[in-house]
Amino acid sequence: MMQVPDQHGRFGPFGGKYVPETLMNALIELEDAYNRYKDDPDFLAEVRYLLKQYSGRPTPLYYAERLSRHVGGPKIYLKREDLNHTGAHKINNTIGQAVLAKRMGKKKVIAETGAGQHGVASATVAALMGLECKVFMGEEDTKRQQLNVFRMKLLGAEVIPVMSGTRTLKDACNETLRYWVSNVNDTYYILGSATGPHPYPMMVRDFQRVIGLETRDQILEAEGRLPDAIIAAVGGGSNAIGMFHPFVGDAGVKLIGVEAAGRGVDTEEHAATMTKGRPGVFQGSMSYVLQDEGGQVLPAHSISAGLDYPGIGPEHSYLKDIKRAEYVPITDAEALEALKLLSRTEGIIPALESAHAVAQALKTGRSMKQDEILVINLSGRGDKDVESILKYEAEAEGGHQQ
Ligand SMILES: Cc1ncc(COP(=O)(O)O)c(C=O)c1O
Repeated sequence: MMQVPDQHGRFGPFGGKYVPETLMNALIELEDAYNRYKDDPDFLAEVRYLLKQYSGRPTPLYYAERLSRHVGGPKIYLKREDLNHTGAHKINNTIGQAVLAKRMGKKKVIAETGAGQHGVASATVAALMGLECKVFMGEEDTKRQQLNVFRMKLLGAEVIPVMSGTRTLKDACNETLRYWVSNVNDTYYILGSATGPHPYPMMVRDFQRVIGLETRDQILEAEGRLPDAIIAAVGGGSNAIGMFHPFVGDAGVKLIGVEAAGRGVDTEEHAATMTKGRPGVFQGSMSYVLQDEGGQVLPAHSISAGLDYPGIGPEHSYLKDIKRAEYVPITDAEALEALKLLSRTEGIIPALESAHAVAQALKTGRSMKQDEILVINLSGRGDKDVESILKYEAEAEGGHQQ
């Protein structure tokens, strides 16, 4: 299989660097720094130390026996990224990028956030390393993720509500890029998913690969063989690519990415980029995008703020087109059902994002045999989502009464 990305940051036709001229130098500086440090033993030792002692890695690979019995198909394992410090996989990437920012001599960091998990993870490492931190967050998301806004502020970050567009993740990304253009000299941009211009999709993937590498060792130890299928939720695609990448060369391991179907892929309220989108340039790279006939980016919708995004990382578009991974949609209602099921069968309340992966596991699992193995990447925990769930249920209740 071709090594991706190539030296231009391309994954087949996807990826690249589509940015204003003012950002070109900053991206080249970042690429040079990453290439200098990515195999540097001191750099890697510092990242590994923090992943272990600060974030609590390795995270367990847990055999969910009661869930498996409920589904009645394969043995289901959960990769417990929810047990990381700050409650999601996002910290794997922010630790790596903050250590890099420090080596580059930057004192200020900026980040975009949707669900607030990446914002919290960025504010956390900024506090840890004494860096000034600004987080851009769509105003709509500041409302549905109030707990994370409060956490970021407690950690000393400034949270800047973004009032443009749909006031969600896409608009927060635009605003962060805009700010970076005018403050590029002293500011490091900690991008939170495997999206954006090169080198971010590659760099974020590399920092998240720890998920898949650990899973590989853990399943070999537990079962003596690789899993038959792996399922992960896909917003921009960082937890999924981190989990998938170490298995891409293993043809017997099915890779399934789950995107948000919101109120249904046949409505206008979804974030099913792979199911309904087509290739285009968006936020610095070429990838699948939800767009209208004229190429205008369409608003996305999902109950989960972290999946509410009309784009996707370019490596996923590549994996889809070479047919190495498949991407399937799960609705708000299906995700919420799965969240409740996992809570009640295993005592684990997943993030709404991760609940999309659980919902797909129920479908995929039904057609698998009992001696097969299915791994779900449980990207985060659900405490942040209680308000969104209450609001969703109140609206559904109101709808029924009309
Ligand atoms: C818990 C959790 N899972 C998944 C995601 C989706 O992001 P990504 O596709 O980059 O993993 C988010 C984003 O905020 C998240 O908080």
